[in-house]
Amino acid sequence: MTETVTVLGIETSCDETAAAVLRHGPDGVVDILSEVVLSQIDEHAPYGGVVPEIAARAHADATDTIVQQALDQSGQALQDLDAIAATSGPGLIGGVMVGMMTGKALALAAQKPFVPINHLEGHALSPRLAEVCAFPYLLLLVSGGHCQFIAVKGLGDYQRLGTTIDDAAGEAFDKLAKTLGIGFPGGPAVERLARTGDPARFDLPRPLLNRPGLDMSFAGLKTAAARIVEAEPLDDQGRADLCASYQHAIADCLAEKARRALDVFAGADDDEIRLVVAGGVAANQTIRTALDDVARAAGARLIAPPLRHCTDNAAMIALAGAERFKAGLLPEDGQAFSARPRWPLDEAAALAAPAYGGGKRGAKA
Ligand code: KG4
Ligand code: ZN
Repeated sequence: MTETVTVLGIETSCDETAAAVLRHGPDGVVDILSEVVLSQIDEHAPYGGVVPEIAARAHADATDTIVQQALDQSGQALQDLDAIAATSGPGLIGGVMVGMMTGKALALAAQKPFVPINHLEGHALSPRLAEVCAFPYLLLLVSGGHCQFIAVKGLGDYQRLGTTIDDAAGEAFDKLAKTLGIGFPGGPAVERLARTGDPARFDLPRPLLNRPGLDMSFAGLKTAAARIVEAEPLDDQGRADLCASYQHAIADCLAEKARRALDVFAGADDDEIRLVVAGGVAANQTIRTALDDVARAAGARLIAPPLRHCTDNAAMIALAGAERFKAGLLPEDGQAFSARPRWPLDEAAALAAPAYGGGKRGAKA
């Protein structure tokens, strides 16, 4: 594969309106020509979480401008592109529709292929933005909406090894922050307070840790913390201690499950085993350190993409589009693709054993 392709990516599945243009060169070397991200954090902050209607409206207002800025900054015209990719699920469906329709309209106008992208595939491929991270690798995707171990075996070849059966780890951080009234998004706020706290002060549960397997659970942790907050008025030190204890419990769970996942993961055919951590929670230093320790002990290398590529971004969507375009892994007619609120990466595993959100509407993750 020697060909170079230039792709526009659009991401609107949660609370970031993002567009990026990248060039995918021979041997998988990536040149990001532009990336523009508009965060809606201020609009959702008063509610302590992402409000889908507000998100959809904000995406509708901003997407055209953000895409135009990304094109302008890249120095590329629409005609210079080989393909246009947009997140087409899973996510908040109003926002997904806005980004997908924008991508489809541009593709139609410029007579370019439209590539619908699974947002989770974007995260799964994100380490390949910064380095040629060869397949296979083990991915821990840990964000506000997702918490899963995935064996990334190749493009479009993902095996889910374990998942949360209730809340995602980021959601757990957000919920504690909401309970304590310390701001949104919760992860950075909890991490900040935890710095001056005692992680041993509160004995919080480590759900599912004493059971075999790679599934995770964080809902019980949230409830245990809420009980503590209800039971006694916490002073500043108490709140810091609770944040530290909570963060410690989440780090323990993720680290122990990562240790087991590395055990199960078949590993690479070269002699390096790679553990990639992606998603907003990967920003957490305590969690990174815990994962790094586990990786080292297993003789593996921890790869954490730069923060702007850990959180939601359009470069990873453009990359997934470029890789799929080059490999010819495209739907027959991208324009006919319908947005999917639920779209598991490992569809077979999700259908066989929906960890949560099963039923009529299909597996959630
Ligand atoms: O990947 P992301 O930007 O969006 C999706 O959920 O897809 O992740 C956002 C999540 C939020 O739940 C946020 O609280 C969490 O990542 N987060 C953190 C930190 N920074 C962001 N969690 C723990 N520690 C952090 N420093
Ligand atoms: Zn995401």
